[in-house]
Amino acid sequence: MGTAYETVGVVGLGTMGAGIAEVFARAGLAVIGVEADPDALERGRSHLSRSTEKALRRGKLTEEERAAILGRVTFAGDLGALRDADLVVEAIPEIMEAKRALFAELDRICGPGTVLATNTSSLSVTALAAATTRPGRVVGMHFFNPAPVMRLVEVVRTVVTDPGVAEGVAGLARRIGKTPVRVGDRAGFVVNRLLLGYLNRAVGLLERGVASQHDIETAMRLGAGLPMGPFALLDLIGLDTAYEICEVLFQENRDPSFAPSPLLRELVAAGALGRKTGRGFSAYTDEPSRPAP
Ligand code: 3HC
Repeated sequence: MGTAYETVGVVGLGTMGAGIAEVFARAGLAVIGVEADPDALERGRSHLSRSTEKALRRGKLTEEERAAILGRVTFAGDLGALRDADLVVEAIPEIMEAKRALFAELDRICGPGTVLATNTSSLSVTALAAATTRPGRVVGMHFFNPAPVMRLVEVVRTVVTDPGVAEGVAGLARRIGKTPVRVGDRAGFVVNRLLLGYLNRAVGLLERGVASQHDIETAMRLGAGLPMGPFALLDLIGLDTAYEICEVLFQENRDPSFAPSPLLRELVAAGALGRKTGRGFSAYTDEPSRPAP
């Protein structure tokens, strides 16, 4: 029998985790957001509050709907709060050892029916499944940034995932308004594998002086019909995240087009990580979606 997903845990409340929590709460599920660091927990709480406040101002939500969404989300600093969750989505930083330790801990804490999912961008879902005693109930559930807007979820099935579990998670993705695609456990899955090579090559073009940042952005928006150019997208994804994905893809495939560009490396070393730090390829004002003039 498939799992009836009613209570979902989200571990890690950074940009992606907070967005994922919002998506589930908007779809009517009870959400438990867990973040060990109290400051990060507070940022996650205020992210949800600001995002729903913006939707209220734009007339996309009523006061009542906003209150209901906020009322469905509880926050905790401890994984013990996830004991009875039907599904837990992990959205912590892309560090394999930290993720494996978390999956082992979740496996100890959660009931045997809980499905454990990872939002990893490029790390091995199989390696995370192997850290648990329930590999059949471990999947990838990969959302895209901004999670409340982007309609795709990659459902990653390993060789040991129970096919019924993967189908149940795909059904859940549809229930929260997303379109699922089923993908195998290969670094970068489909979207990042195709997208990051392009983004990394765009940085290479800029470094070699083939065109200016502005002209590369314009070329890809107007010539390829993309909603944003490669540098705006890198700033949205986060340059550290993009760097890590390129590095994993390079290590796995030995394909030089994934070797992170020196300029990307330099910006990451300088702490210019994109919108989240207010500076990446562009500088950003307080309004995160608007580059500074
Ligand atoms: N959170 C919530 N909602 C947001 C948002 C955010 N961060 N950013 C924008 N929105 C909403 C706006 O409120 C608006 O909603 P409305 O239509 O209901 O009023 C809608 O999105 C459109 O926003 P804007 O009018 O401000 O701006 P745009 O029309 O330019 O859209 C965009 C912004 C949706 C970000 C669009 O430019 C886009 O689709 N860009 C490409 C994003 C993309 O490719 N993401 C995938 C990255 S890869 C990834 O995430 C994988 C990971 O593993 C790295």
